[in-house]
Parts: sequence; structure tokens; C-alpha cells
Amino acid sequence: MEKTLENLKEAFAGESQANRRYLAFAQKAEKEQLPQVAKLFKAAAEAETIHALNHLRIIGEIKSTSENLHTAISGETFEYKKMYPEFLKTAVAEGNQKARWSFDVANKVEEIHAGLYSKALDTLNKGAQLAKVDYYVCSVCGNTVEEIAPEKCPICGAPKVKFFKIT
Ligand SMILES: [Fe+2]
Ligand SMILES: [Fe+2]
Repeated sequence: MEKTLENLKEAFAGESQANRRYLAFAQKAEKEQLPQVAKLFKAAAEAETIHALNHLRIIGEIKSTSENLHTAISGETFEYKKMYPEFLKTAVAEGNQKARWSFDVANKVEEIHAGLYSKALDTLNKGAQLAKVDYYVCSVCGNTVEEIAPEKCPICGAPKVKFFKIT
């Protein structure tokens, strides 16, 4: 059973990555005017998500929303306080400017996520409902904002038009 739990975790990681990889490949196929290949990548991506979610459910990692918020806060906090700062240092030392940019924007956005999740958890802990607001995400850097997209992304400088609304 212990080995199976390990296997489930490995399979969850692999299927999750396959999902994002296939979506990236689908975008590329669209750019290459290969819509049917794009569709095939999207279909397989959806199926990999189903596999990933099955594995995660069986692992037992989907708990109550307040426990899930705790898990999310710890993950984001680890990323912005420890993981990305270390990755950034290495990217700088190795002179990899693209990785440096990617780590830097992710680092800043994870801190924002930790804050949004903490605010949500505090509200739930008070027995209240979250205020109804729209969320906008920057398609360049992932910056996640409430209510209204800014004229210019404060993290990556992208214009307002690059933000999409979460429905
Ligand atoms: Fe995040
Ligand atoms: Fe951005």
C-alpha cells in the first residue's frame, strides 16, 4: 500500500504535467494551422485531468475547503518565501535571464495568492461569506487581481487587455 501511495503521487504529478504540456502543444498546433491536432491535444489534456483528479481523490488530498485553503496557503508561502528566492538566485548566478523573469513574476504572484487565500480563510473562519468580486488574471505573468483589471499589470507591465476574467 505504501508503494501504491507513492505511485499515486507520482502518477498525479505526471498526469498534471501532461495536461499542461498538451494544452501548450494545442496552442502551438493552432498557430501552425493544425486545428485537428490541436483538438486531439485538448481532448487528451482533458482526459489527463480526469486521471490526475482520480489519483488525487484516492490519495485523500481533497479535504474540506478550509483545510484545502490551509494547504494552498502553505504551498504558496513555501514557493514565495523559499523555493522561488532560491531558484532566482541560481538563475542569476547562471545568467539565465528568461528563467529569472519566469521565477520572479511567479514569485510575486504566489505571494498575492497566499494573501488572497488567507483573506478567504479568515472570512470563512468568522463564519462569513466571501464578498462577491470578479477575479482577473494576467495572461502574461499570472497576476491575480480582484474587482478590476489594472491599466497596466504592476508585475509584468502588460496592458489591461492582457487580463482575462474568471467566470
Ligand atoms: Fe500561486
Ligand atoms: Fe502581468
